[in-house]
Amino acid sequence: MSQGRRPIILDVDTGIDDALALALAVRSSRAELVAVTTLAGNVDIERATANTLAVLDWLGTTEVPVHRGASRPLVRPHVDAAYVHGTNGLGNADLPASVRTIGGDRGPAAIVRLATSRPGELTLVCVGPLTNLAIALNVEPGLADLLDRVVVMGGAYAVPGNVTPRAEFNVYADPEAAAQVFAAPFPRLTVIGLDVSHQTALPRAVWEATRATGSDPHPAATLVVEVCRRSFIERGMTGFYLHDPLALAAALDPSLVTTEGSTVAVALGGEERGMTWITGPGNVQVARTVDAERFLAGFYETLGLPALAVDQRTLHPE
Ligand code: BDR
Ligand code: CA
Repeated sequence: MSQGRRPIILDVDTGIDDALALALAVRSSRAELVAVTTLAGNVDIERATANTLAVLDWLGTTEVPVHRGASRPLVRPHVDAAYVHGTNGLGNADLPASVRTIGGDRGPAAIVRLATSRPGELTLVCVGPLTNLAIALNVEPGLADLLDRVVVMGGAYAVPGNVTPRAEFNVYADPEAAAQVFAAPFPRLTVIGLDVSHQTALPRAVWEATRATGSDPHPAATLVVEVCRRSFIERGMTGFYLHDPLALAAALDPSLVTTEGSTVAVALGGEERGMTWITGPGNVQVARTVDAERFLAGFYETLGLPALAVDQRTLHPE
């Protein structure tokens, strides 16, 4: 780790909360953002990649390479989440388009190359469907031992899903990829499911206070204002779930969550598609509890948001 910073590859389908995870990775003094890989999920691959570049440019981070990855799930057609993220994936916020070029190799190839060139050093944080990681594992079965850690945002274990009554979006979008990743022999694989991410929403009151600050806030704070506007104003939400920032934060500070070593099964088809459940002990560290207060305090501080104390139980987020 350079100067105590954990080297991170962030795998995204940008997406509002993916954008906020990118902001956290860029701003955190605990993270060295080595590369970003993209894939189809919340939006199609072209849009996910364009959004990722635009967000990084907005944050003033033009040197981090962005590698375009999987354009569709392993087996199934692409499903998006425009109902949450807006048609452009960023809550219809109008960020300036980036003019820089993407990295020379594709997402899964970049993951394999970087993990091989820095064996045992890198943490891979996957906050979209698990397609890129499944492909990377397929072409480099030794990947599990080449990465220091993997943190995944995916699944709903003891709580309902958010796409169907049983399924969480990232697993639902590519269940075959999720099944392959959860069955791989990762020595350190942490999974952040809705069980914990549904305890960590950005309250509308914090967003409003950020917006009211007005004069020259940090680009990360204005990013929050822009990408959450649709959810809070047009859709009248009182909170926005910070699924992906929580996964990134748990990669930087594993003590934010407690976990249980589990074997995770994934339903591949039918009405149960994307359902995740624990079949017994195993190597997948499924998050059971989260210190939501400490996570939110760190998130606010790092992104330059006002630290208002809001009871999560009063929120109705999306
Ligand atoms: C996950 O699905 C996506 O819509 C979000 O970006 C997050 O990664 C939450 O279920
Ligand atoms: Ca995501």
